[in-house]
Amino acid sequence: MNMSIRSIPEYRYPYGWFQIGWSHDLQPGEVKALKYFGEDLVLWRGESGKTFLQDAFCLHIGAHRGIQGSVVGEDLQCPVHGWLWNGEGRNVHIPFSRVDCLAGLQARTYPVVEWYGMIMAWWHWDAVEPPFELPEMPELETNEWYPMHPHSSVVHRIKAHPQNVVENVCDPFHIPFVHGAKEPPRVERLDLQADGFDAELVIPYGAGKKSTRLTPDGPVDAHVKLHNYCLALGTLRWEFPYPTLQISSMTPVDEEHLDYFFQQTSKRVPGTEGDEPVGMALEMLKLQQAVIQQDFFLWVHMKNLSAPAFAPEEAENYTAFREWAWHFYPEENH
Ligand code: FES
Ligand SMILES: [Fe+2]
Repeated sequence: MNMSIRSIPEYRYPYGWFQIGWSHDLQPGEVKALKYFGEDLVLWRGESGKTFLQDAFCLHIGAHRGIQGSVVGEDLQCPVHGWLWNGEGRNVHIPFSRVDCLAGLQARTYPVVEWYGMIMAWWHWDAVEPPFELPEMPELETNEWYPMHPHSSVVHRIKAHPQNVVENVCDPFHIPFVHGAKEPPRVERLDLQADGFDAELVIPYGAGKKSTRLTPDGPVDAHVKLHNYCLALGTLRWEFPYPTLQISSMTPVDEEHLDYFFQQTSKRVPGTEGDEPVGMALEMLKLQQAVIQQDFFLWVHMKNLSAPAFAPEEAENYTAFREWAWHFYPEENH
């Protein structure tokens, strides 16, 4: 069988919802300079609490409005000549001019929502509007689970292509080598859809042993459920060894780097209060925060091959996944 397998596109900015920060890190009246999707950006929170994200450069003579810019009401004031810009990217005031503003100017504006304490931006190279909103997460609607912030969230800036990270779902055979498991998980299901994918992994715990600390009654098959929104925003749900929801975003920064945002929540340990996980919830948090870093050396040092060679056991999922993933990139890169 000679099946041609797509390479990972050189273009690094698939469309989708991406995390760009945490709500608690941006107070009303605060302005931040960011770099994502290969663009210089300015993020600010108006006095009312609403958040705005735009291209950074002032359409007057090009100052970076995220550097020493300030908030006036809901608007952003450029630090150099004081021009005011509203949340829609319009120039609304020029302090020194007999014309009040240049109404035709329009800075590029990105859709932003705050989602359970995460600041999420929608990116599409052609500024196509988001086809869906981010959904409710039942675990985060109740006090029976820990909040994800600030104790259970972390971001790593690493050299990687977002697709490298997400392709972990096709790659059970790295798990024994990189993560030290006795056996690889089984990919039970990989359901590729228009706006994301659903998958289920079965992870054997305590295989071949009568009893272990986590499996006192013998081996357990843990079913882990994944759902990704577009390509690079993922959720992962564990029931065993402890009920846990992880949310991660592979947010592309520039031609080399991404920000790996990671946070998780676990079911509250019965009888405990407070926002800081304890007991098994804390153990799960520490373990998962360590596990995600074990993959970094691969992505940082690897080269994406134009013609990778897959073994028969992995070829089907990789082939299907790479074929599917291409629709998140611009047509001209296909
Ligand atoms: S460069 Fe922004 S107001 Fe002049
Ligand atoms: Fe991994």
